[in-house]
Amino acid sequence: MRVLVIGSGGREHALVWKLRQSPRISDIYCAPGNGGISGEAECAPADQKSLESLVSVAHRLRPDLTIVGPELPLQLGMVDEFTRRGWPIFGPSKAAAQLETSKIFAKEFMQRHRIPTAPYAVCSSISEVKATLSRFSAPVVVKADGLAAGKGVVLSKSKEEATLAANEMLSGKMLGEAGSRVVIEECLKGDELSFLVFSDGERVVPLVAAQDHKRIGDGDTGPNTGGMGAYSFPGLLDEQMTHWLLQHIARPVLEGMKAEGMEYKGVLYCGLMITPRGPMVLEFNCRFGDPETQPILMRLESDLLEAIEASVEGRLSDGEFHWSKDAAVCVVMASGGYPGTIEVGKRISGIEPAEAIEGVKVFHAGTSARDGDYYTSGGRVLGVSSRAPTLEAAVERAYQAVKRIHFDGAHYRNDIAARALKNYRNQR
Ligand code: AMP
Ligand code: GLY
Repeated sequence: MRVLVIGSGGREHALVWKLRQSPRISDIYCAPGNGGISGEAECAPADQKSLESLVSVAHRLRPDLTIVGPELPLQLGMVDEFTRRGWPIFGPSKAAAQLETSKIFAKEFMQRHRIPTAPYAVCSSISEVKATLSRFSAPVVVKADGLAAGKGVVLSKSKEEATLAANEMLSGKMLGEAGSRVVIEECLKGDELSFLVFSDGERVVPLVAAQDHKRIGDGDTGPNTGGMGAYSFPGLLDEQMTHWLLQHIARPVLEGMKAEGMEYKGVLYCGLMITPRGPMVLEFNCRFGDPETQPILMRLESDLLEAIEASVEGRLSDGEFHWSKDAAVCVVMASGGYPGTIEVGKRISGIEPAEAIEGVKVFHAGTSARDGDYYTSGGRVLGVSSRAPTLEAAVERAYQAVKRIHFDGAHYRNDIAARALKNYRNQR
């Protein structure tokens, strides 16, 4: 079987790595891929912002199945177009992907279907923002309606800061059309949790949960990023809570989307805050998370292809996934300057010695390969990942591996999974 993965990040490298373990796959392609992926799949150039380019790649490669990594192709209607052509593809339609591509759609949908989320208001002018802020207390969150590549959410300590952020979004200078309307939202407190499920339109099956680390700095300080590291282990989410999340969040989303004529197929990422008032939805993503996918797939023992096919063909069942009881951790190494202006083109050394450590796999994100060497080519460069019988051991292995890798300007967080480790130790 021929499989095509769309995307170029660490998430796509993890997908390719896992899919390659499927005995039924004969050829695996990735468009456009990256330096590390090119060692494990045939990479084909493609413009992820152009539907025409994505169609033409698939036309040439003739995959039996296409798997979409990032959100942009979903917004372009890639799934609708491939489905129209009779080409099997894993992911939601353009209409269903509004759960991610429009924060206003997602908030209004949650309100209609009584899915727990923070109180909010929608504003399209600065005078509306000012009037709305008088009803909220600081800190407060300002969100651009549309896709903003991680730059559309500002956690504001004061109302002045919130007004400035909203003004910048509404002016169109920073985000263009994506910021033409904004959501003002209560700031929630608690632990974040990434809860992903597969859906075939009718049924939902959960994946193991993971936790991301969004801020650039140790101790959750500094600006938000695409994600600086993630971990997953059995202690993160018990069966009872999984059941609650399915019943109060994942299933109502699927049923609500179906009732509104937008059947949801693919993977649904529920970004949650576990607050003292219970779990609440911060956001939905209509795709696998990055970097959560790296530790999640490291714990997957069954065939990922089988589960994806079951979703595409509408025959998902509870027995779809088998998970290891091991823990997995991913530490992101980023380029100098990230998440601001970055430096690229730096030679990377030490990947092989890092992967010589038991249970370690280095997933590439912003890298390119040239003459047998890897060079940095993006903000998040590598997702140094490990699996071990305990969270403690997985963290230790991941950092041991990180210390073997070098490139100019490299930086990473030193506290991935640290809070979970502390809580876990206290419980024992
Ligand atoms: P989003 O793009 O909506 O996921 O937001 C990015 C990040 O901003 C989330 O992962 C949270 O860390 C944070 N965030 C978003 N909404 C809220 C909220 N209402 N309260 C606190 N933090 C939030
Ligand atoms: N890790 C957050 C995301 O994938 O959006």
